[in-house]
Amino acid sequence: MNAVEVRGLSRSFDGRDILRDVSFTVGHGEIFGYLGPNGAGKTTTVRILLGLLAPGAGEARVLGRDLAVDDDARARVGVLFENNGLSDRMSAAGNLAYYAGLYGVEDPAERIDELLTLVDLADRRNDLVGTFSTGMKRKLGIARAILHRPEVVFLDEPSSGLDPGAQRMVRDLISELSRREEMTVFLNSHHLDEVQRICSSVAILAGGRIRAFDSVAHLTAASGRPVVTVALADPGESARAREEIARLPFVAGCEMNGEGLLCTLSDPGATPDLIAALVGANFRVEEVRRSSRSLEDIYLEHVAPAEGGA
Ligand SMILES: Nc1ncnc2c1ncn2[C@@H]1O[C@H](COP(=O)(O)OP(=O)(O)OP(=O)(O)O)[C@@H](O)[C@H]1O
Ligand SMILES: [Mg+2]
Repeated sequence: MNAVEVRGLSRSFDGRDILRDVSFTVGHGEIFGYLGPNGAGKTTTVRILLGLLAPGAGEARVLGRDLAVDDDARARVGVLFENNGLSDRMSAAGNLAYYAGLYGVEDPAERIDELLTLVDLADRRNDLVGTFSTGMKRKLGIARAILHRPEVVFLDEPSSGLDPGAQRMVRDLISELSRREEMTVFLNSHHLDEVQRICSSVAILAGGRIRAFDSVAHLTAASGRPVVTVALADPGESARAREEIARLPFVAGCEMNGEGLLCTLSDPGATPDLIAALVGANFRVEEVRRSSRSLEDIYLEHVAPAEGGA
């Protein structure tokens, strides 16, 4: 049994089809990234999974259950929406104590201490949440979402509006939760770099349909022709080296970017020949490494055509 199963899900609002026959699954303990442009229907999908919104057609199951009718199963699930679900007029610890009471958490004081330490807010425990920064509220919101040790947690844009340090903190926290608490994490995100780093699998939703559903490793594996990045000891020579490389018979293309020369080879075994040709032409090669396509490249390939036609 999967942690999350969506089958043939459709939903429209005011005659506009938002989800059209959407299907995917998330295995237990996975960190799953649900991607798609603004307004694609990611939050709508999560609201249907949580039983907060009725589907037009199809099924949405969490832990094999329909959360719209199964209160026991709903208690095994956590959620963080953009508003964090916190009261500004209560302290950090007060907010968590309130939710601990609602969820019937055992040893709430101990759990609250543990979580405040985990999200690095132990020293602000008695401060009103209304005085917190965006990032502090978000971290506390995550603590709230996992207070009752849910088996599956839905995080809707957990790192939006966070500074790079706080983004890394949230990213590490998500990985840690999945490892230490064996939680399944369902992540709605626009941070493709974050998704590529922590998610095991993703689905890309655009124009109401799932455009890709696969493991991150499989999606980003160099498909088709191999690509290598060449950095020269003197980057000022890149333009001249590029002309040299473009003439080589086993090179299909060569572009300059911030990291060096991005060379697409027409022959997968040609990396040594490329190095030999550059050294032979007296270029001093600093580094050569194989590159895979970024999740951003793949996302844009799938989303760009759908956006126009949706
Ligand atoms: N209750 C509602 N009534 C009418 N339309 C709605 C409602 N909820 C969502 N929609 C519409 O459904 C579409 C999908 O919205 P949704 O919030 O699911 O997108 P999203 O993928 O989460 O986008 P974002 O990345 O901006 O968060 C939007 O066009 C939105 O206006
Ligand atoms: Mg959304």
